[in-house]
Amino acid sequence: MAQTCVECGLTTGNAPFVAEARDRGTLYITQEYDLYSKANHEAWAALYQRIRPRWERFANDHFLHGIEVLELPKDRIPRLDEINRRLAPLTGFRTRPVSGYVPSFLFFDCLRRREFPTTITIRPKEKMDYLPEPDTFHDVAGHVPMHTEKAFADVLVRFGDCAHTAVEMTGMISDRPERIRRLKSIIQAMSRFFWFTVEFGLMKVNGELRAYGSGILSSFGELQHSIESPEVQRYPAQLEWLINQVAEIDHYQPLLFWVESFEHLFEMVDRLEKWMREGKLNNVAPGLPEVAEKDVQSFMEAA
Ligand SMILES: [Fe+2]
Repeated sequence: MAQTCVECGLTTGNAPFVAEARDRGTLYITQEYDLYSKANHEAWAALYQRIRPRWERFANDHFLHGIEVLELPKDRIPRLDEINRRLAPLTGFRTRPVSGYVPSFLFFDCLRRREFPTTITIRPKEKMDYLPEPDTFHDVAGHVPMHTEKAFADVLVRFGDCAHTAVEMTGMISDRPERIRRLKSIIQAMSRFFWFTVEFGLMKVNGELRAYGSGILSSFGELQHSIESPEVQRYPAQLEWLINQVAEIDHYQPLLFWVESFEHLFEMVDRLEKWMREGKLNNVAPGLPEVAEKDVQSFMEAA
């Protein structure tokens, strides 16, 4: 049976256990820890050991503290139930294994319940540097340590509130094409905001820039590049930029935004919701990221 494919393990692009769940339409799964292969654990260990010194230099203190309190293992893929036992008492957050892409309303709604949809597969060892889709190193080493920080966790929950507001604001529009058009614009605004903060955000602490975005924190190359490269434009975060700036995913980010604190970030998400209510997100600048049909659908179904 495919599920017992020992060679495959739980490797990105080659994990029968996960593919079968996806084919059945099952989104929430379990972390079948025994399915990880030796090569899977070696990939984690190699990624962890390579990036650790760069975390010390370029990551913000909240992240470094998170690594310690979660006791993230160096030499094997973490067990998510162990992570949850340490994480939940701190902020109420938990990881929740998923089989693949989570349509955006469901994703934000999970955050509102303090659940983080978590990929359990890991990239193959020969693709250490770039993977277009998230893997468990990105999700567990890049995102989850930040969830130990209360102010940051509250920001994620507030994103979930925004998704509910989007449903409320568009649910009463009877003209279907107009409803879809507005939803697409609002989803695009939320995705860009999330991209430039939770995924690729920087923080300025005592005049020094440090990364808190998970896309940066899980990338050995981009972590140093984001802080030190003279080619990167780095600006103080402003809501009007965060929602209108085109976000491309297939190369190092040439434009990054920094916040002063997570209270500052929380205040911006608050304002995002206010702008949504005022209609300011109904016509954001066109361009990437494209909004997928199933993302729009997820908001329509929630109404
Ligand atoms: Fe991510």
